[in-house]
Amino acid sequence: MTMDRYVITGKQRLQGVVKTSGSKNASLPLMAATILAEGQTVLTGVPRINDILNMIEVLKNLGCKVKFERNEMTIDTSTLVENTIDEELMRKMRASNLILGPMIAKNGRVKISRPGGCAIGTRPMDQHIKGLKLLGVTIKEKHGYIEASADKLRGAEIYFDVPSVGATENIMMAAVLAEGTTIIRNAAKEPEIVDLQNLLNKMGAKVRGAGTHVIHIEGVKSLHSAEHTVIPDRIEAGTHMIAAVMTEGDVVVENVVPEHISPVIAKLRQGGADIKIDGDSVRVKHQGRFKSLDVKTLAYPGFPTDLQPQFLALLTIAEGTSIVSETIFENRFQHVAELVRMGANITVEGRTAIIRGAPNLEGTFVEATDLRAGAALFLAALAAEEGTVLERVDHIDRGYENLEEKYRTLGAKLQRVVKRD
Ligand code: UD1
Repeated sequence: MTMDRYVITGKQRLQGVVKTSGSKNASLPLMAATILAEGQTVLTGVPRINDILNMIEVLKNLGCKVKFERNEMTIDTSTLVENTIDEELMRKMRASNLILGPMIAKNGRVKISRPGGCAIGTRPMDQHIKGLKLLGVTIKEKHGYIEASADKLRGAEIYFDVPSVGATENIMMAAVLAEGTTIIRNAAKEPEIVDLQNLLNKMGAKVRGAGTHVIHIEGVKSLHSAEHTVIPDRIEAGTHMIAAVMTEGDVVVENVVPEHISPVIAKLRQGGADIKIDGDSVRVKHQGRFKSLDVKTLAYPGFPTDLQPQFLALLTIAEGTSIVSETIFENRFQHVAELVRMGANITVEGRTAIIRGAPNLEGTFVEATDLRAGAALFLAALAAEEGTVLERVDHIDRGYENLEEKYRTLGAKLQRVVKRD
């Protein structure tokens, strides 16, 4: 792991065009879904970032063959032999748990080490496990491992207590090869789930309803090879839009599905930004102080928790007092202490942050604690007076492709300092 840092000179107005990469959170379940297919799957538009490279390792660990050139990935899962994932790999990335559903459906057994909590919360798996059990899976949890086995999967009606993205995806992937019909109620509605439905149906599955709170899956005997292009990364697109506003810039963000980021567009407009949508590109212009406002994170189509830290960074330089409520993860204000080091005025009470906007942030030494907290500090540094040293860029590398090149092209002044152990 590299422990690189960014050295960023703030107050540069961002201007120009930036193209959003393919979605990380869509690619990860799509990669897991390839386990279900007989033959090979080709995914295009896959971002070259560390979470994806880790998922490749997970698939290789299971015996699959993966080729990744530029942004095109070819996955051949016919050579799958293993059914256990290395503990170290599981620790690197929570999303490895997405192989549970497809592995149990295709292979009949799988063993993973239980993913731990992470910086932003405890992140339980009870809904995944409940759903799998209802499909006929026997689950044993021992010594920190989850061991799942099933002779045969049967369709079932599954109600989720919370609309979990990962649990919805896992159950969809298990149910496509089950006998009979599965109905998921209170399903998560995120666009990444619709993307997964689209790939599964190209492989010959019978899934409908993704994007709504009820998903119907009619089991089929087998799935075949397919080709699919990943949807654009809505969180990356939102990050660029917020960056444009924070630097009083004028940026065209390309490769966006505007509908996927409508809550962010609405909030940016509410605060005074000028946003023009033209097909799959969004132009964001802003001058002067942004106006304070309140934000509450919710499951899709609510305001995404993955953009809360970045938006909070913007509110630190808004005019007036804002309130940010985080309802999805219990510990997602780790960026706050670092933003305060940059001169922000923020008070946290439980899951609520009160932000009293100041005219300026000041550059200093800060450290990323997780991916999106890192993105928030990156944006704060772009807007701050003078220089910022941002440590632990490895967190940001998990989720943003070619960040330096993209921002340099927009006029940011930044440098990556490679630190070797
Ligand atoms: C996905 C995203 C992540 C995003 C999150 C919420 C991927 C790879 N990651 O994570 O970037 O922040 O959605 O939009 O797509 N929960 C339970 N029991 C469970 C599962 C979840 O109580 O079994 C709760 C969680 O604690 C959380 C809420 O449900 O409060 C949503 O989590 P979930 O949608 O499952 O997040 P992930 O799929 O892990």
